[in-house]
Amino acid sequence: MFLFIMTDELLILNASQLVTLKGAARPRVGAEMRDLAILENSAVLIRDGLIVATGATSEVAAQAASQCQTLDAANRVVMPGFVDAHTHAVFAGTREDEYEMRAAGFTYQEIAARGGGIRSTVRKTRAASAAELFDMALPRVRWLLEHGTTTIEAKSGYGLTLDDELKILRVIQSLNRDTPLELVPTFLGAHEIPDEYRRSDDAGQARTAYIDLVISEMLPRVANEHLAEFCDVFCEAHVFNVQESRRILKAAKELGFGLRFHADQLSLGGGSQLAAELQATTADHIEWIDEAGIAALQRAKVIAVLLPGAVFNLGLTKYAPARRLIEAGVGVALATDFNPGSSPTPSMQMALSIACTQMQMTPAEALTAATINAAYSLNRGARLGSLESGKQADVVIFDCADYRQIPYFFGINHALTVIKKGRVVVTQKSLGEKPIENCYTR
Ligand code: NIG
Ligand code: FE
Repeated sequence: MFLFIMTDELLILNASQLVTLKGAARPRVGAEMRDLAILENSAVLIRDGLIVATGATSEVAAQAASQCQTLDAANRVVMPGFVDAHTHAVFAGTREDEYEMRAAGFTYQEIAARGGGIRSTVRKTRAASAAELFDMALPRVRWLLEHGTTTIEAKSGYGLTLDDELKILRVIQSLNRDTPLELVPTFLGAHEIPDEYRRSDDAGQARTAYIDLVISEMLPRVANEHLAEFCDVFCEAHVFNVQESRRILKAAKELGFGLRFHADQLSLGGGSQLAAELQATTADHIEWIDEAGIAALQRAKVIAVLLPGAVFNLGLTKYAPARRLIEAGVGVALATDFNPGSSPTPSMQMALSIACTQMQMTPAEALTAATINAAYSLNRGARLGSLESGKQADVVIFDCADYRQIPYFFGINHALTVIKKGRVVVTQKSLGEKPIENCYTR
């Protein structure tokens, strides 16, 4: 369905800033997050999908084959593609009705308690076939790529039956195979207690039965079919409490899943401590984390995935304490939380803008969090997230001469040309080159 221009070599030259993020082969912490290893007036040479050289344009150009395709990035920033480490991008239906209700003063939790929220999307997602879900996801894949995102983590969690969870994970697998976007699958069967397991007369037996179903049927099946790399749980007082989350996550860990989960999002509930205890790969959201939780994440080397878009969109004011996390030496990643309820945006650029203005992250820290640290949080730091020889050529050309303008001019899309595995997958007519066929044109 997607065709690409096949080119053995691609040379991007004259970039005013080549933001390489070259550095230690691990998540960047503390002051390292402010070091983007920028090369000025530089070039990157791509061969067979991999980066083979970066450096001064004249030196790199000398290594290129005579017929290699070139892209002139004069007055432009060239960076690694964004890695969005937390999304719920496969869903049916939209929830603009709830958006309007929140404007009228209802909270996210109040809407959920009335049967809206996640359960509303679950009802619509259950009703959709795999083919329909795939088709619904295609325009979102296009949005993501057009905004400079080349890899996402994608969760299930809007099925909440064995078959519907498998359906979503298979759609994620198909999107990864059939579109230029790279998707890393996460199983989120414990996203919410589904409607049919909510009876008020049985003192919690029904909810325990649902948790048993997740542990004894869903997790083993997802593991057997290799449909997810990670397991997530919505660990929150009104959803799955710490004891319930621990049960599910321990079972997942025993089956070989990595752990990344929603922790301390809407209240301080011990989720961050649990992430440290279980040596999770990431703890996500953590708006309500306390000093003990920050210290626990640092000691256990858990990466904090911050999602300021959800705070912003829910009209809340309590953002994750990014400055304290960075000062404490926790590796910080940024993600969109793209979903139809709390954060309906595919734009990492928007996440950067909110991170800089509301969490006081510097633009450099935000870029590190959105690329190399996010790549490490998905166990892909050795292949993605920086522009270094030997790495996969996931590269974006931005229409500005200074990387700080990416968050500074907010609400617009700065991405001009997007390259995935060495192939141009998004381009713009006004770039000056002949339009490239069979790729998205902005
Ligand atoms: O990250 N917190 C749980 N899950 C999502 C919201 C999903 C939804 O509202 O549909 C989140 O905010
Ligand atoms: Fe989420």
